[in-house]
Amino acid sequence: MASDSGTLLARITDYANRPDPYPLYAELREAGPVVPQEDGSCLVGAYHQIAALLHDPRMSADERSVRTWSPSEQPREPSFLRLDDPEHHRLRTLAMRPFGPPHSPRRVDSLRGEIARITEELLAALPADRPVDIVDDFAYPLPVTVICRLLGVPREDEPLFRAWSDTLVAAADVRPGADTAEAGRAGEQAGREMREYLLDLAEQRRGRPADDMLSAFVNEPDPSLRLAPAELGVTATLLFIAGHETTVNLITNGVLTLLRRPEQVERLRGEPGLLPRAVEELLRYEPPVHMRERAPLVDFEVAGTTIPKGTSVFLVLASGNRDPRAFRDPDRFDPARPDNEHLGFGSGIHLCYGAPLARIEAETALGALLPRLTAARLVEDPPPYRRNAMLRGPRHLPVRLGGRPDRVSGLTDS
Ligand code: HEM
Repeated sequence: MASDSGTLLARITDYANRPDPYPLYAELREAGPVVPQEDGSCLVGAYHQIAALLHDPRMSADERSVRTWSPSEQPREPSFLRLDDPEHHRLRTLAMRPFGPPHSPRRVDSLRGEIARITEELLAALPADRPVDIVDDFAYPLPVTVICRLLGVPREDEPLFRAWSDTLVAAADVRPGADTAEAGRAGEQAGREMREYLLDLAEQRRGRPADDMLSAFVNEPDPSLRLAPAELGVTATLLFIAGHETTVNLITNGVLTLLRRPEQVERLRGEPGLLPRAVEELLRYEPPVHMRERAPLVDFEVAGTTIPKGTSVFLVLASGNRDPRAFRDPDRFDPARPDNEHLGFGSGIHLCYGAPLARIEAETALGALLPRLTAARLVEDPPPYRRNAMLRGPRHLPVRLGGRPDRVSGLTDS
């Protein structure tokens, strides 16, 4: 329905469509490579266009290029997720030093044992005689515990940072036509409090380093490689939030996808070597991050349509992942899919920083849960979803580890 294409963003973000936005993504790809929206933004849903735009230096990730901000609204101190090169590159490189190669090539791998131990503890605590909530009892505590351990944040402060994180994620969501001023103010406040909290923790480690990333940042001996305090606050906040909000959804989407396909549970149990590819397929088929926003720094043409400088452009990664021009039989979940160059971790200069960690967490979690999934049943299908359209995943996933489905409305492969 090409005439309705201007309302696609409103329909995609409509909470009623959260359980199954994929027919809308098919409509988006059908409507054209660049689809203008009633609110002045544009949507891009085709794989090859999204990939090209993610690699195009004329497309800015900086919020200050995206909208017409009033001076009082200007987002202060963006993290490197929302900065362009060269500043993005400088901060990403400094943030990578205590996390990954070339300076810390073993950091992520060294967490494998601990990730397995936390997973086993969580599994051992799951009751067998009543439904469990895969989100609250399993998929949320695992990455939160890991990111706390990695950064050096006390796990017992969880209620504090869960509230900040929820507020920040809500403020960063896309809601066309909605009055976002209040959510924006709440996000600013939560961001400020979280930065202060993390900076305070980092200060406590100055001169007394522990084996965590906050210690590494604050005790960096070379001043040219040290994050300034404001940079440290925003970077630690970004790592903390990006480090768990998405992984929760990947694990939960994984359990949901597998429970809808008992034959795939049996297949993976028989062929555990397929698990890493199954995780890649989940990142394609049910990605935690559905869209990202960019804005052209100059007027420029994409597939015959000129996008004016400053336009808010939503690159719908989850739609690109289902594009039949890039993936054979894209609406089928195929854990053995070859050449799976999905957009689940983005692409280009902002390609996910934490992907190696997220992969280990998802493989460990799903691998350990698999034996329990054979007899497991969904209590509710579709489950209740989180409000967020950008970071999409169930808010709860009630599962009976043994028993029959109580309420199933029959969602299958589209
Ligand atoms: C399944 C889990 C995850 C998914 C699906 C995911 C997805 C993504 C995506 C799509 C982007 C690109 C954003 C853009 O282009 O605007 C991104 C960037 C990023 N991710 Fe992840 N992520 C995950 C886990 C993690 C973890 C565990 C960490 C940290 C330990 C992390 C840290 C980051 C950071 C810092 C960026 C910004 C990179 C940059 O701007 O250069 N992510 N992630």
